[in-house]
Amino acid sequence: MKTKELSNTIKSLLAGDKGLLAMDESTGTCNKRFEEAGIPQTIEYHRAYREMIVTAPGLGKCISGAILFDETIHQATKEGVLFIDILKKAGIVPGIKVDEGTTDLAGFPGEKITLGLDGLKERLARYYQLGLRFAKWRAVISISSVLPGRGCIEANMHALARYAALCQEAGIVPIVEPEVLMDGPHDLKKCFDVTSRVQHVLFDQLYGQNVNLKYLILKPNMVLPGLSNPKPASIDKVAEATVNCLLQSVPAMVPGIAFLSGGQSAELATAHLNAMHVNFKGKLPWALTFSFARAIQQPAMELWKGKDENVAVAQKMLYHRASLDNAARRGEYTP
Ligand code: 13P
Repeated sequence: MKTKELSNTIKSLLAGDKGLLAMDESTGTCNKRFEEAGIPQTIEYHRAYREMIVTAPGLGKCISGAILFDETIHQATKEGVLFIDILKKAGIVPGIKVDEGTTDLAGFPGEKITLGLDGLKERLARYYQLGLRFAKWRAVISISSVLPGRGCIEANMHALARYAALCQEAGIVPIVEPEVLMDGPHDLKKCFDVTSRVQHVLFDQLYGQNVNLKYLILKPNMVLPGLSNPKPASIDKVAEATVNCLLQSVPAMVPGIAFLSGGQSAELATAHLNAMHVNFKGKLPWALTFSFARAIQQPAMELWKGKDENVAVAQKMLYHRASLDNAARRGEYTP
């Protein structure tokens, strides 16, 4: 295993108060978000949007790594400079989403399994050659009165462990993302119980597949009440539940945890991360950071609207959100 290289990549990704930017929306997801924002859904607009992001002034001061979608790694600015090269020049490690989305899991109505293990070894070798040094695989788990089923959790966590082992073998740091979705009326306690179960199974599977916990980053959901639960939880309560859940299930050897935002507003995602740092300062075995997509990009996308004349103001917003997340990592965020 290329342990020195994996270790250096992790050091770069977790450095200082920086975090990750997930800009790896698949074509379908990107089109959906563009449609909602009134932006034309074409490959050229995807490219222009990603150009706006990677060329945002100062991005490298806030962001340590950017997760890209396969479409993006071959794209370049209008002047012909590859996005990967722009990121590297800004001191941002380029990474790649390697799962191939989800499909219905046979035998488990309403549940999904993530695809992408076939041919992954070869794809990882190619991505390594292109200079990509970390990867992401997302598993999704739904909550309802009867979900999630044990078989769904086991199949998804097994796939995550197989992926992580292949990444480490290729010299690529795996970002391991078991996302418990926010949809539903469930309460915070239910999210805590499901997230805890999922993470326990995940670490059992990682152990079973000989994945070295020193060379991965966990990307979990925060512990929150469901989106349609009418009773909101306080910021401190979410921070406490999230950290306690992680303390129960994530071994101290894991170097870092980088949260997804999962559909929370940008402000709330930042406030929750901040409260974790304020309330648990000096008490956590791992670095706690962010790997947000919507909570960094959404406000900028709404300003950009697909228009050249809005690029500068959208870039400022992107930088603003990312720098607030840096403040949250220091426990110094004020809304
Ligand atoms: P959100 O922060 O929008 O949840 O996205 C994170 C991500 O990478 C999902 O896979």
